[in-house]
Amino acid sequence: MKRPKVTVVGAGHVGATTAQRIAERELADVVLVDIVEGLPQGKALDMMEARPLLHCDCVVTGSNDYAPIAGSEVVVITAGLPRKPGMSRDDLLQKNAAIVGGVVDNVVKHAPGAKLILVSNPLDVMTHLACEKSGFEKNRVMGMAGVLDSTRFAYFIAEALGIGTRDVNAMVLGGHGDQMVPLPRYSTVNGIPVTELLPEEKIRALIERTKQGGAEIVGLMKTASAFYAPSASVTEMVDSIVRDNKRILPVCAKLEGEYGLEGVFLGVPVKLGSDGVEAVIEITLSDTERAALAASAAKVKENIAKAKCLG
Ligand code: NAI
Ligand code: 2OP
Repeated sequence: MKRPKVTVVGAGHVGATTAQRIAERELADVVLVDIVEGLPQGKALDMMEARPLLHCDCVVTGSNDYAPIAGSEVVVITAGLPRKPGMSRDDLLQKNAAIVGGVVDNVVKHAPGAKLILVSNPLDVMTHLACEKSGFEKNRVMGMAGVLDSTRFAYFIAEALGIGTRDVNAMVLGGHGDQMVPLPRYSTVNGIPVTELLPEEKIRALIERTKQGGAEIVGLMKTASAFYAPSASVTEMVDSIVRDNKRILPVCAKLEGEYGLEGVFLGVPVKLGSDGVEAVIEITLSDTERAALAASAAKVKENIAKAKCLG
């Protein structure tokens, strides 16, 4: 059987680890692309040299150009800068919009049938810009953040309860930032809502830690941001698409009236399969949860306007 092909653009922390996870899970052959000469080739060769030990057959190829991405089923975009000391959010917005825009042009040229998974920050804005720039149908353009924010929340819940992580399922919606919307009512331990298991003030503290999850890791590592949990989260999405698992995962997807929101990319539960975002799932929200989602959407829209103004 011919294996699917997945391209990962950006061979840095998140990109290279994602390529490794995809290959080791035997999901697809991977093309790793970066602008730095030799970087994707060196990392790809290093991964290939581990194959005899790991007994996996997927091929990882490194490239500085886009010809080898032809025929990719999925393109994951991690190219861009993480925030550095002295850099404002606007600087990051402007620089990453230019980088992601250039990458999208190349994807449209060389892999016009691909589904795009955006990772570069600010995530919701980059996903919106990639959709506009590519002209792809909305089901083929999505962003990864909700799976990451949810796995962080799930880990903190398991840690607080002193239980294993296997039975914990958490749900975090909204934008990838301070205004994300963790939903404890929909976060469960083997079907039991976490609201039955932990006191309200403890849940509030876990929600706050989840919202600051990315910053907590940057604060510890200082020169880099998280990449193990992010790459695992991207791989979960790639798995659902290339194997057509039709999982329900929180994904940054385009809303056209769902949740009362129009024309904005935001984290919501979706059915993820071989056609990409096959459906947006609307769950019942309380007035407070709905207002939090609307506030998150307003923030994303504000940043999109800013990106267009800066660009
Ligand atoms: P990194 O600095 O380790 O890697 C970025 C890579 O992109 C570098 O190898 C760089 O050479 C490459 N690159 C830059 N311009 C490029 C271009 N025009 N074409 C191809 N490659 C290019 O950064 P890291 O840690 O991998 O993070 C990547 C991005 O992902 C950042 O914007 C970060 O904030 C974001 N991120 C988003 C997450 C999410 O939940 N959505 C989670 C973690 C990171
Ligand atoms: C994170 O949440 C940096 O967005 C990245 O870790």
